Amino acid sequence: MLLLAVETSCDETSVAVLRDGSVLANAVSSQVKLHEEYGGVVPELASREHLRNLMPVARQALGQANVTPQQLDAVAATRGPGLPGALLVGLRAAQGMAFALAKPFIGIHHHEAHLYSPWIGGDPLSLQLESFEPNVSLIVSGGHTMLVHVAAPMEHRVLGGTVDDAAGECFDKVAKLIGLPYPGGPELDRLAGEGDGGVHRFPRPKLNDDSHDFSFSGLKTSVRYFVRDNPGVLESGRQLRDLCAGVQAAIVEVLVKKTMRAAKRLGVRCITASGGVTCNSGLRASLGQVCKSEGFKLRLANPALCTDNAAMVGMVAHMRLANGMTSTSLDEEIAPNWPLAEVN
Ligand code: KG4
Ligand code: ZN
Repeated sequence: MLLLAVETSCDETSVAVLRDGSVLANAVSSQVKLHEEYGGVVPELASREHLRNLMPVARQALGQANVTPQQLDAVAATRGPGLPGALLVGLRAAQGMAFALAKPFIGIHHHEAHLYSPWIGGDPLSLQLESFEPNVSLIVSGGHTMLVHVAAPMEHRVLGGTVDDAAGECFDKVAKLIGLPYPGGPELDRLAGEGDGGVHRFPRPKLNDDSHDFSFSGLKTSVRYFVRDNPGVLESGRQLRDLCAGVQAAIVEVLVKKTMRAAKRLGVRCITASGGVTCNSGLRASLGQVCKSEGFKLRLANPALCTDNAAMVGMVAHMRLANGMTSTSLDEEIAPNWPLAEVN
């Protein structure tokens, strides 16, 4: 079965082609350069860029896969959550394609796509669910931070999420505050790797509360006050690196401890992580170390699949079709605030 998947929920335009659940092509066009000068994603510009890029990216993916539109058996697209204008471009284009080809269409939840991305591996990339174990999944990106209990494939329950900023948003806002280029997460990560995280201690919000929720806006504010009171840190390479390391240590400690605590409470022995922040070297190292010393299995999404991509969207569509879903409505509208809890 040949499936084409489209992802345009934020600032990546991506189209993937899958054959029987194996990725033949996963073309991604990032808009990072476009939004760089504004220091964040500008929704109107993102929509226009998706409009401009979608067809070239689709042609690229179909070309790489050596597949023509007429050969496709189904079309999928991210329906939400995400930026309304950005979602509209991909969803409507994919629905139009399915309509013209008279093939099934499946609208996909973006977080559900992230949720299964740690299970995508091999060459060609495919879902490796034969090694599936019930797990606690951490989804961390620029727009989302959540903990999900995945008891079985397609059976998940949201445990908690951020009450304010997402972890990636915190990385990006702190990076902006200290003058790093957008998107700040990767650059802050690089500098943190050369610094000492023990020099400056920043708050670990909600670390010890009983919930599975997160909060990162207070951490960002405390860095703002710290920089206001110690402007010299921005002038010195050494101190700036220590500051980055201190911020990263705080974010990583909260993410790792709360993830492990949730797993222990639920009695699951497997942790997975996905989303752009899962590229963070401190987070990858810390989860790796804790899971090893405490005997947990760990599946981290491949860095190339951590950030937004259509391959993960296609994988969930493939699972849904394999589970007997025939199609979702071509009249279905975008769902910018769609809660994951409503997907089953
Ligand atoms: O998943 P993603 O591409 O987009 C959203 O759906 O939000 O994630 C992008 C986010 C940005 O906030 C970016 O700064 C962050 O992931 N990020 C990182 C790293 N690489 C990407 N944050 C910390 N360390 C990194 N190495
Ligand atoms: Zn995402």
